[in-house]
Amino acid sequence: MNSGIWRFSRWLDPIPASARMTLGEGNTPLVRSRRLGPSVGLKNLYFKLELTNPSGSYKDRFACAAISDMVACGKTECIATSSGNTGAALAAYCALAGISCEIAIVEGAPEGKLKQMLAYGARLFRVRGFGIDSRLSEQVVECLKMLSARPQAQMQISAFAYSPVGMSGVKSLSHELAEQATAIDRGAWDHVFCMAGGGGLTLAVSLGFEQLHDAGQLPTLPCVECVQPEGNNTIAGPLRAGLNVAQTVQCTSRISGLQVPQIIDGNEVIAACRRNGGTGHLVEDHFVWETQSRLAREEGIFAEPAGSTAVAGALQAANEGYLDPAANIVCLITGSAFKDPPSLDAMVQHTSAPMIELQDLQRRVAETC
Ligand SMILES: Cc1ncc(COP(=O)(O)O)c(C=O)c1O
Repeated sequence: MNSGIWRFSRWLDPIPASARMTLGEGNTPLVRSRRLGPSVGLKNLYFKLELTNPSGSYKDRFACAAISDMVACGKTECIATSSGNTGAALAAYCALAGISCEIAIVEGAPEGKLKQMLAYGARLFRVRGFGIDSRLSEQVVECLKMLSARPQAQMQISAFAYSPVGMSGVKSLSHELAEQATAIDRGAWDHVFCMAGGGGLTLAVSLGFEQLHDAGQLPTLPCVECVQPEGNNTIAGPLRAGLNVAQTVQCTSRISGLQVPQIIDGNEVIAACRRNGGTGHLVEDHFVWETQSRLAREEGIFAEPAGSTAVAGALQAANEGYLDPAANIVCLITGSAFKDPPSLDAMVQHTSAPMIELQDLQRRVAETC
């Protein structure tokens, strides 16, 4: 294992220095749970704060590698699909690189993510039914493939099935996690909880740990646990049921970012989790929202619903008795609450910030001091 501070830029070593586009991504904090873990009997629950990446989600690891590679190959047009976070990350790195960025957005993308992409200067269009209907979603991707067949263009979708170079950047997460486990004297992780939409993130984390294991830098593989909302059960259910293939669904989940009804990297996720001993966990949307709110109020972590889903999976698994209370467990927290204003509105619906007069404040001072 390499010691010292992790540098994401190490991941870009194969790319010529002049083409490396960086905004300071990666090297994100690891913090110990003070309340949520102990509330379900977990002594060593940790959170990896991927929401501290430059555009507010772990997708910056993807975009950094993908856009740097496009610059190295002389490409000038990025054509992408996104539920929001991939688009925001790509739009940011395209702005940095001076590359044009056009993004097909899923129907349910929240306003916060749309505005962020627009602010970075991306051209957007939303497609009705995209992200809900698996057949229609596949057809959207087919259209984009044709648009990006021109020599100056390249399609970017944050999945190994489409953009393996960009996804190699996400494997850096496992390398950081392995170093951080050593740094905090936990030795190694027993379980790593990842949320899945198309499964690229869970696959990247699994493959990143395998890489370290194969290089003799990690004695045992952690179990990579795949958490999905019940309304987008493409991977977690089949994995848990012992099946080898993922399934397409009609998505009914309202968790933005995890509304991916197609299989995408699903079959590879199932195979990878089988190799490392992880399983699938299905959580209800309302439990994800409840966990998002608890993360803010009990841990001071401001995550979007998709970003809170791995934690929801770990809490549920602990309640089911699936986890050893002494196990070393880390949950990825992948995106910021600023991305999803409607979920924030729901979190604060019974609170307010009343306007008062100075005299009211002075009266309070006189009464309390
Ligand atoms: C915040 C967040 N977490 C997790 C994911 C899941 O990633 P994947 O589709 O690679 O499974 C996404 C996907 O958009 C996301 O936005």
